[in-house]
Amino acid sequence: MTDLAPAALGNVRLRAPAHEPFRPAAPDQPDHWPTMFDMFLGETARNPLVGWPKETFDILNRKRRVLHLNYIGVSDPEGIKRVFLDNVANYPKPNLIRRALAPSLGDGLFTAEGEIWRDQRRLMAPVFTPAALGQFNPIFARVAERTADRWATGLDDHIDVAAEATRTTFEVINEALFSGEAGLSFEATSGDIDAVVAAAGEYRLGFLFGMPWLDQSPLQRRANQGRKVLLGHLSAFIARRQASPSPSADFMTRLLEAFAERYPPKEAAKLALDNAVTFFVAGHETTANGLAWALYLLSRDRQAQAWAREEAQAAWDAGGTPTEILGRLPYLKMVWEETLRLYPPAPRMDREALAEDEICGLPVRKGDMISVWPWVVHRHRRLWDQPELFNPEHFDPEAKASHQRFQYIPFGAGPRICIGMAFAQAEALIILSHWLARFSFRPVVGHTVTPRAHTTLKPVGGMPLIVERAR
Ligand code: HEM
Repeated sequence: MTDLAPAALGNVRLRAPAHEPFRPAAPDQPDHWPTMFDMFLGETARNPLVGWPKETFDILNRKRRVLHLNYIGVSDPEGIKRVFLDNVANYPKPNLIRRALAPSLGDGLFTAEGEIWRDQRRLMAPVFTPAALGQFNPIFARVAERTADRWATGLDDHIDVAAEATRTTFEVINEALFSGEAGLSFEATSGDIDAVVAAAGEYRLGFLFGMPWLDQSPLQRRANQGRKVLLGHLSAFIARRQASPSPSADFMTRLLEAFAERYPPKEAAKLALDNAVTFFVAGHETTANGLAWALYLLSRDRQAQAWAREEAQAAWDAGGTPTEILGRLPYLKMVWEETLRLYPPAPRMDREALAEDEICGLPVRKGDMISVWPWVVHRHRRLWDQPELFNPEHFDPEAKASHQRFQYIPFGAGPRICIGMAFAQAEALIILSHWLARFSFRPVVGHTVTPRAHTTLKPVGGMPLIVERAR
């Protein structure tokens, strides 16, 4: 028995860890802002995380001129509330970003604005209510088990848990939302999806100035090719579904029916395709990154891993449905929340001001860009106690009660908060608890972990860990 039995975890105040919390990998915070050259062509262009100077984590809001645009970096929870909730109509997603994403995501839920966004969000909401989501828990458990069974037959050296997590969440989204019929195999398409996601986050000069032909980087070329493959497969899937509707009323069938009632056939098919791509892309890589970062943190904190395993084993050993098991994981939930604090899989959110406003005393002009980085907000020294350390106690019930509402935003905030939030939370906890109950995770000596923000926050070179049977 470890010194803090999981049975003792629950709604009670948790003790601080009995060991030194460790400092997870993060780039050094330089003394100065990067040069323009560095920002667009140097190291910061490849990984914006390395460009954040110390002051970003000490000053809550600041305005900067970058080329022809004003950027207002907002980390004050009050300012975040202003942008994402109180005056949300003034702050749509920037045209620039919508243009960059449009070739892949079209007018799907992530990119749409105004009436078409509201309409889609309303249509989709019933699939993502807590009651409706319960139907997916057995899928999460089944796919987690499939991955774990594969590990169990071939455990010799290290495993790249980032790749394994991506395969797992890819299978989950394919089965949960598309009944496994989308015609995409992980092997054939994961590289394409990766390229599309990464390319969307690349800082590009031609793009900023409306001259996309300037942006012929290898990554952009790879993304263009990947996009064609992805759209080809998913268009064929939609055409099959339209020709002979699936007997199962899955997410895609419901969307097709709802769009058909509201829009002309061509527009309905296009919206269905836009959302098929949106949900494939938005719905698996973020959760996969969260899983990889959680296993990284636990692999370095043996005590936290032992507590989480003890809790997971007890939860699964007690039997019952995956939904019941999910209710028995309070410590793992804290670990998961702390993981998303330190490594928010969607590390940035951007908005564009339609009209003048004021954010925490800073004047905003029409056209100003508002940049909110969960990576920065979650590591801000004015908002968190010892923000650079891994400590699940940041999320014990008492600590949580003292948080300001908008200081923790891994899923965004306001009306555009991630529609898949509860889906992702249940998925992650069921998968992690299954894996932890069966395996232990250790670091690979000599491997350096480097987080990189390219639209999503990923470890450079994957996340190799030594995976051993735990029982
Ligand atoms: C740990 C996992 C996830 C994280 C951290 C995450 C994060 C986010 C964030 C931060 C946003 C808001 C972006 C913004 O306002 O600019 C967002 C939106 C969205 N997410 Fe997630 N997400 C996750 C999982 C999922 C899953 C599993 C799905 C689908 C099943 C999903 C689908 C979406 C969609 C469609 C939107 C756009 C919503 C709208 O604009 O109305 N996400 N996500």
